[in-house]
Amino acid sequence: MPLLEVDDLEAAFLFADRTVRAVNGVSFAVEAGEIVGLIGESGSGKSVTVQSILRLLPSPGRIVRGAIRLNGVNLLDLSREQMRQVRGRRIAMVVQDALAALNPVIPIGEQIADVFLAHTQVKRQTAWEKAVGMLRRVGISAAEERARHYAHEFSGGMQQRTVIAAALACTPELIIADEPTTALDVTVQQQILALLQQARSELGSAILYISHDLAVVTHLCDRILIMYAGEIVEQGPTRTLFRSPKHPYTQGLLASIPSLHGDVQEYLPAIPGLPPNAAALPTGCRFAARCTFVQERCRAHHPELVSVGSHHAVRCILYEATTP
Ligand SMILES: Nc1ncnc2c1ncn2[C@@H]1O[C@H](COP(=O)(O)OP(=O)(O)OP(=O)(O)O)[C@@H](O)[C@H]1O
Ligand code: SF4
Ligand SMILES: [Mg+2]
Repeated sequence: MPLLEVDDLEAAFLFADRTVRAVNGVSFAVEAGEIVGLIGESGSGKSVTVQSILRLLPSPGRIVRGAIRLNGVNLLDLSREQMRQVRGRRIAMVVQDALAALNPVIPIGEQIADVFLAHTQVKRQTAWEKAVGMLRRVGISAAEERARHYAHEFSGGMQQRTVIAAALACTPELIIADEPTTALDVTVQQQILALLQQARSELGSAILYISHDLAVVTHLCDRILIMYAGEIVEQGPTRTLFRSPKHPYTQGLLASIPSLHGDVQEYLPAIPGLPPNAAALPTGCRFAARCTFVQERCRAHHPELVSVGSHHAVRCILYEATTP
């Protein structure tokens, strides 16, 4: 049984005059200890997927259909209190804006100690010592002294390390990281990714890593899901996806990554055009307006996600069987 199973998830924002169909029929699984990347450009539905998993969709957002199972239990059936326990203990969240995630008026060490106090039977002094140990573990030097500092006294990288320390304090089975490195410079980004990898190897936590940047996840993820306009358009093991991308959108994303091995680190232009409006989605393939391989059929027919190899699937008519 997978650790997390998202099954045919449909999430939408129901306004009086329009429905924003943010996530449409998304299904995927994350195995225990696995690192899965969810990649797509802005507005593709990555955060809404995550907010649905955690049942934190802002109003007027609704999960219209589907199931979200953690070790086989549908999270949509849990009470608010049960769900709060899941969020605190079993699934930890690391967001882009670390400063906003931290409490500005409580010292850093105390915030992490509070996690230990909430989830384990320890005394305050022990919780504090564990918190200092946690800060040390995520690479914060002079941890004992820094534990007494406040969030605004930390650099962006240190703030994100602190958020990760707090996330790891409850030894979660799953860490969901939504663009955790976007605000950081490249060197710090690499350090944060290394930290997440360490969390997997030391704690065995699975990670669902959200990013708009395919290049960032190359070395981190075992498997990648490519999202476009609320749907998964391609999924497969990282290596397969990089060696043999099938969907024209994935091919475009890969072409816009600077050469990974070459000397010239130059970004090629991204895919021209814009994704469709989630309140007025086209009938056929949602990528049709930007696709260089578009055919007449693409505009009328909505492609299914079809298997094209071991654990590799793609949503494009070029790979759908043409004859029954
Ligand atoms: N609170 C909201 N109210 C209305 N529409 C929303 C809300 N949040 C998201 N949406 C819409 O849902 C769709 C998916 O948005 P989502 O935030 O999941 O994108 P994303 O892939 O996380 O993008 P980004 O890379 O910019 O974070 C978009 O069309 C967006 O406009
Ligand atoms: S279905 Fe057609 S438009 Fe869509 S990605 Fe495939 S070829 Fe392009
Ligand atoms: Mg987002």
